[in-house]
Amino acid sequence: MAQQGNFKSPSRMGGLGDGASPSSAGAVSAGKPRVPGLKEVDFERRSFLGKIVGGIGAAVAISTLYPVIRYIVPPVKKFSNLNELVVGKASEVPENSGKIFQFNKDKVIVINDNGKLTACSAVCTHLGCLVHWDNALNLIACPCHGAKYKQTGEIISGPQPLPLPAFKARVEGENLIIAKA
Ligand code: FES
Repeated sequence: MAQQGNFKSPSRMGGLGDGASPSSAGAVSAGKPRVPGLKEVDFERRSFLGKIVGGIGAAVAISTLYPVIRYIVPPVKKFSNLNELVVGKASEVPENSGKIFQFNKDKVIVINDNGKLTACSAVCTHLGCLVHWDNALNLIACPCHGAKYKQTGEIISGPQPLPLPAFKARVEGENLIIAKA
């Protein structure tokens, strides 16, 4: 019975230090400050290494995905918006022929009908196929659904709802120039 009395006595509790409870881990001896344990240092090191590994992983992912995305998504072309432009040489469109040129953002067909130049959009107003000059029939034809246009772009026949927008074409020296109508 005397042993039970000693266990709860203040003299034995004092050996645990101020503020310590009898149920604490008891690893800290009285009077010594608590020093960060190995577990805390290890945790900080793991966190730091985790950030480095994450950063490297992100860099590898970006460097791998960037060319794939550039391949899938074509670059946006920047077009000029000029009133007129030298698009090529006059010799590129000999008599009784037609040729498509890029003019700003538009594709324009220039037709040389016995020395008379005309120009209009080369994009069919039905569903957007590129037209061509049919010299035998003396008209602009669309290969997709049979639309036919005059060389000035007006509708002859076919499913297209609108004429081809007109442009101007002229020769200066050797140069072929297309201009907005
Ligand atoms: S796209 Fe030209 S006729 Fe249909």
